[in-house]
Amino acid sequence: MKGIILHGGHGTRLRPLTHTGPKQLLPIANKPMSQYALEDLKNAGITDIGIIIGDVHPDKVKEYYGDGKKFGVSINYICQDQPKGISHAISLCKDFVSNDKFVVYLGDNVLRKSLVDYVKKFQNSESDAIILLCKVDEPQRFGIAELDKTLGTIKKIIEKPKIPASDLAVIGIYFLTPKIFDIIDQLKPSWRGELEITDALQLLMDKKNKIEYDLVTGWWKDTGTPEDIIHANKLVLDSIGTENQFLIDADSTIKDGVVIGKNTEISTDSLIVGPAIIGENCKIGPAVKMGPYVSIGKNCILKNCNIENSIIMNDCTINTETNFSCSIIAHGSEILDSKTEENKFLLGERSSIQI
Ligand code: DAU
Repeated sequence: MKGIILHGGHGTRLRPLTHTGPKQLLPIANKPMSQYALEDLKNAGITDIGIIIGDVHPDKVKEYYGDGKKFGVSINYICQDQPKGISHAISLCKDFVSNDKFVVYLGDNVLRKSLVDYVKKFQNSESDAIILLCKVDEPQRFGIAELDKTLGTIKKIIEKPKIPASDLAVIGIYFLTPKIFDIIDQLKPSWRGELEITDALQLLMDKKNKIEYDLVTGWWKDTGTPEDIIHANKLVLDSIGTENQFLIDADSTIKDGVVIGKNTEISTDSLIVGPAIIGENCKIGPAVKMGPYVSIGKNCILKNCNIENSIIMNDCTINTETNFSCSIIAHGSEILDSKTEENKFLLGERSSIQI
């Protein structure tokens, strides 16, 4: 079986963070979100992977994943000139897929449960597709499946319905066979100008092909907005465990569920409350209160601040008596000297502010 990760699109709802790179490289608990997809595929035994790259800094994707060797997989890059839809992206993979069954994983989806059981099920199944469904609070934001409860089958799949027939979202992991390519050839662009995956699945059903579904247990997150990313960070950190390879002053207080990278120094009088993760070569303190639910990248310097429920990427400096909450601060940013009570930041790369 082959794997495809979608790494294109414009990530407009995440601007300015996506002006300087694709959204799927934004870190959750210090790891690009698409790496969760890649590792999930690999752990399910899928090591032949195609990555769809778009027109937002595709070079950064290639630079990070390379040929895949260091992640234990083999990667082919497939270019999509414009984000013309998920089905359009899939159609570009026809040669790569050849006659195999395959799994398409949207690079901005993170799933708690491993793919192993689903992959086994699809391997042994006669079905032409398996989709995964998850109950959601805002069904208008997703592709939605309406079920026939007596037959245990899918009745209809609709993209972002105004009046949803159910609260079951079709999550961004699709198990498909090469039959889908002929189906995609027959699609017309939707109201948003895209070849929709939901239209392809609906047409597959209309042509009397068999689609199965499974309800996912545990959480699933589509990280379309900054709030989604902060939430995904929280969900991932909840199961991060404890791992310390650090130099800490004897008097600093570190609670459970904290992962700290090599050569990171945490000063006396700093308080780190897990779950949290701090990358390599950071200097934390004096007077830092951090956590819960904070991810700090590599080479950061943090002084005098209180941070909770936030993501600070690599190479940032924060030296200010400020409270940070629900903030995402991109690579190389600098925040200095503030006296205000609480601030909420969403900063692009190499920002520099003084308050
Ligand atoms: O997350 C699940 C939802 O994903 C499904 O419930 C919907 O049915 C499905 O259409 C999709 O909806 P979104 O509106 O969230 O899709 P988005 O435009 O955010 O694209 C999903 C991912 O695919 C994202 O990582 C970008 C990538 N992409 C998207 C398009 C349109 C591409 O690589 N190429 C594309 O042309």
